[in-house]
Amino acid sequence: MTVETESMDGQQVVELARRVLPGGSTGNVSHELVIAEGRGGRVWDMDGKEYVDFLLGSGPMLVGHAHPEVLAAVQDRVAKGTTFFANNEDAIRLAADIVDAVACADQVRFVCTGSEADFYAMRLARAYTGRDKILKFEGGYHGMSDYGLMSTSPSRSSNYPRPIADSAGIPKSIEDEMLIAPYNDLETVAGLIREHRDDLAGIMVEAFQRIIPPQPGFLEGLRELASDNDLVLIFDEVVTGFRLAYGGAQAFYGVTPDVCTMGKSIGGGFPLAAIGGRAEIMAHFDKGAVGEDAFLTQIGTLSGNPVAAVAGRKTLEILKRPGTYENLFRTGQALMDGFAAILDDAGIPARVSGTPPKFEIVFTDQEVVDYRSSMGDQEMASRCNALLRERGVLKGEICFYVSCAHTEEDVQFTLDAFADTVAELSRSDAA
Ligand SMILES: Cc1ncc(COP(=O)(O)O)c(C=O)c1O
Repeated sequence: MTVETESMDGQQVVELARRVLPGGSTGNVSHELVIAEGRGGRVWDMDGKEYVDFLLGSGPMLVGHAHPEVLAAVQDRVAKGTTFFANNEDAIRLAADIVDAVACADQVRFVCTGSEADFYAMRLARAYTGRDKILKFEGGYHGMSDYGLMSTSPSRSSNYPRPIADSAGIPKSIEDEMLIAPYNDLETVAGLIREHRDDLAGIMVEAFQRIIPPQPGFLEGLRELASDNDLVLIFDEVVTGFRLAYGGAQAFYGVTPDVCTMGKSIGGGFPLAAIGGRAEIMAHFDKGAVGEDAFLTQIGTLSGNPVAAVAGRKTLEILKRPGTYENLFRTGQALMDGFAAILDDAGIPARVSGTPPKFEIVFTDQEVVDYRSSMGDQEMASRCNALLRERGVLKGEICFYVSCAHTEEDVQFTLDAFADTVAELSRSDAA
């Protein structure tokens, strides 16, 4: 097949995508949208349409697209070679920055994606405890591994703790290795631990699950249960790391896990993720420390890539500056409050659930406390997303990611677009 790649307009690129990519997409979002450029809190599609961007590359662009300081650091690094497989100073320094910032991380192991980090964190819990099962929460997202994809977004409900595989191609036997509990339900977790203690290696949790904050005492309770029962408590901080606070969700909520995974922001828009944890657990990555039998094998061609590491380091440096998180929270809060007021005025039952750096509008009249209560009216949500996009506001299917680069003007533009969207939703509901 020959492909004409020069001088195509947006529509031609979409048609090419339909031919050469399954489903016409790289797998993440709708294939009708092809992004050409991003700067700060905005992106432009191939036809030049401008959007206030709350997709933010699914989170990594916390300091905004094409931040001039990140670009300069990356350009300087690229000119000196882009990957070596051997150790490099930028990765070592990024590890030191993470160790300084993240309470549970005495040491760090780099990989390229959050999925890998989560997969290895589960393997690490098994290597450390010598037990196999992992308890996770319904709706908790821990990447694309066979284990991670258990009851992440089940379209039907099963009885806890039985998992439902979210993908074809996953061996049935994996279902026996995972236990599923409802998020924010400590009693069910305690019961499952009592029942499966001899086989259980650890608990894997998004401390702030997708768009659902932990209820008071939930994380503290998990910490206590894990400590009392010799389980490895893993926080998946792929989203929350450096987003909820410089020290991540564990700093924000004041609960320290044994191991955490990080991704997104720490790569500054490049493929980089990490597992961080207590030294005695991380020792399983070191054959010299634990011996052949307890050694956890982990290698990756691009792990700790210097270009990604330098982008991550510069991103962390920017985030650490005084006022950064106050500003991020102010922006997010203005959006959350504005959305809630507009929905309230329109009499549309909805909850704005989450924290200012990441939240979602759930079309429901119930309190949002776990996966099932976070579903709301899905049809309404996708109409809302589509109407917002028509009006120049881009977001993912499940949340708004807020960046430090979003301005007051971006907030006002978004609230105006939302008011218009809600008016349209109300009109079409009345018709
Ligand atoms: C909480 C969480 N964990 C893991 C992942 C997987 O990360 P990646 O897409 O880099 O594999 C994601 C991705 O969105 C995530 O949100």
